[in-house]
Amino acid sequence: MSIDKGLTKVVAAETNISHIDGNEGILIYRGYSAKDLAIQYDFESVCYLLWYGKIPTEEEYESLNQTFKKNRELPDHVRDIIEHLPRNVDMMSVIRTSLSALGDETIQWPPTKEQAIKLTALVPTIIATRFRKLNGLEPVVPNEELGHVANYLYMLNGEKPMKAHVKALNAYTVLTMEHGMNASTFAARVIASTESEMVSAITGAVGAMKGPLHGGAPTEVTEMLNEIGSKENAKPWLRDRLESGKKLMGFGHRVYKTQDPRAEALKEVTRNLTVDDHWLDLANYVEDLAIELLEEYKPGRKLYTNVEFYAAAVLRAVEMPSELFTPTFTASRVVGWTANVIEQAEDNRIYRPQSKYVGKMPSHLVDQ
Ligand code: COA
Repeated sequence: MSIDKGLTKVVAAETNISHIDGNEGILIYRGYSAKDLAIQYDFESVCYLLWYGKIPTEEEYESLNQTFKKNRELPDHVRDIIEHLPRNVDMMSVIRTSLSALGDETIQWPPTKEQAIKLTALVPTIIATRFRKLNGLEPVVPNEELGHVANYLYMLNGEKPMKAHVKALNAYTVLTMEHGMNASTFAARVIASTESEMVSAITGAVGAMKGPLHGGAPTEVTEMLNEIGSKENAKPWLRDRLESGKKLMGFGHRVYKTQDPRAEALKEVTRNLTVDDHWLDLANYVEDLAIELLEEYKPGRKLYTNVEFYAAAVLRAVEMPSELFTPTFTASRVVGWTANVIEQAEDNRIYRPQSKYVGKMPSHLVDQ
């Protein structure tokens, strides 16, 4: 049996949810191009597509909206937990802990679409409640007139968001909702395969998402661009980083060996936004230079811009604080996780790969 570190060549499941063609740079959700969905549909419609396998009719859309509305408010004990966690507990840990505390009798195996809606509805409320608490502000009750994405911005800032911001964040959430068998989705499916309930599966996925190689990159992209600061400093900074063997955040992808289609779509979104021009201009400049230098230092590795690079630009443009970048990614990826958990349960077999023992053997066995 051969070892495949990182499981790159292992196909661990059949799925109807999403398809990635890494060479062509194509991402499909249940038969639709994710790029097209991001332009034409809102968050709720694409949630419906991922969970139910079709674009909703008007009645189905309305019924989904009603279920979202019913589930947006936090149970009292979860609000208490959020308020009492020490200030130094980071937001991803707050999400993980809050979701984990939901594990009551309403969230039992087998996973259901209602459970998926409930968890998805709650994540923005968890983030906003904690964010406001840390800033000495009272939580904002969700606004029944607003959709999911607008409500997120509303609960964070306490005022109705600008349409352009909602549109940009909507595109971001649709493009980042689902992405094949990535690390956090795999974690969710492994946990679900034990017939543990959806809350445990999603809690595990949040833990996987927290790592900088997965969901932490946009924050680090912002830090990288802030450190670079100017076009003149870009080349020496990038060279220095590559020569010391470090990675450039927002570049490279396990699957895409060409432009990440989500990065392209988000770059397009930034063109229609009023943003800090200097920063966006620098981002465009650094992108081109980084691709050139990556080819020089890592020839043939096909390292291009990934979704996180332009995610950083869009999230900055909608005035999202950088510490909320990964949590916001989580608020959208929870849709894909829950869809995958449901699919896993429909045709379940517990995951049980093997490992090759390379440690010491007892002497009597070595001597034989
Ligand atoms: N900057 C510099 N070099 C990079 C790089 C980057 N961003 N991404 C990959 N490489 C190099 C690796 O060092 C490796 O070089 P080697 O062949 O000399 O050892 C080679 O390219 C292959 O990379 P590897 O780490 O094996 O690819 P992977 O498929 O295991 O990892 C990522 C994919 C995303 C984890 C990796 O590209 C990365 O760490 N990127 C930066 C973090 C990031 O943007 N994450 C968000 C992902 S959406």
